[in-house]
Amino acid sequence: MRVLAGLLCTVTLACTVKANVEKTVFRGPGDLLLPHVHPRLDALRLGSLSHAHPVLPTQLPAHFPSRAAPRGLESWYLLQRLEAARRYEVRICWPATQPTDFWLDTFTVRDVFDTPGLVKSLTQYSEHHQQFHLSESEHYEPAQSATAQSVLLLRIQAAASYYSTNRTLMEHPEPVDVDITNAPVLDPFLLNILPQSLAPFAAYFTVVAIGAWFLSGYIFHWIDSVASEPLLKPHSD
Ligand SMILES: *[C@@H]1O[C@H](CO)[C@@H](O)[C@H](O)[C@H]1NC(C)=O
Repeated sequence: MRVLAGLLCTVTLACTVKANVEKTVFRGPGDLLLPHVHPRLDALRLGSLSHAHPVLPTQLPAHFPSRAAPRGLESWYLLQRLEAARRYEVRICWPATQPTDFWLDTFTVRDVFDTPGLVKSLTQYSEHHQQFHLSESEHYEPAQSATAQSVLLLRIQAAASYYSTNRTLMEHPEPVDVDITNAPVLDPFLLNILPQSLAPFAAYFTVVAIGAWFLSGYIFHWIDSVASEPLLKPHSD
């Protein structure tokens, strides 16, 4: 009984910890000259992540899912100075005491400005953010550089996922404390040829294959020695 309780506890704990990280993997797009393509981007004053500032501690507004917004509130960030074609992973971590569902999506600047729904969400966020949420901890880096660079826009959707009898809280959930990080995905195997997700299987099959090779050699020698052994003792019947 105790063991079962312990096991259940471990399983629940593992799930809770897992629920506190959400991530998305993407590749850096081709370089683009921002001021030429979208002078408006800089005016949005989005918080940004780059290799010089890979971690962004901030507070994200969340809302309970509604029919109009089943994924709660949307926030936007700029992923700057990426390397074209390199794989990256954006993660969001938040405390278990603030149960929230997150969805992360990356879009190219062109995709966003060509899709009315995304432009609307982005400008709404920017206006609201500049009025109420521009915190000191958020790193702001002007995109107005003359050199071309690889950039993406990150959309985070946050829906509160708890229930409270407090009506104020149900209508206006508290903002969630999060850490947003962006880091290159390191592929140590075979110069990026083998996807990282397959690496454990590759290692497993290599070990099994080597084991099988030695085992078959051992069995062969054993059969060989048994076969060549003279029968010293005749059968009793
Ligand atoms: C309801 O939640 C709000 C916001 O967190 C808080 O200020 C208020 O004291 C709470 N009310 C009750 C009755 O607990």
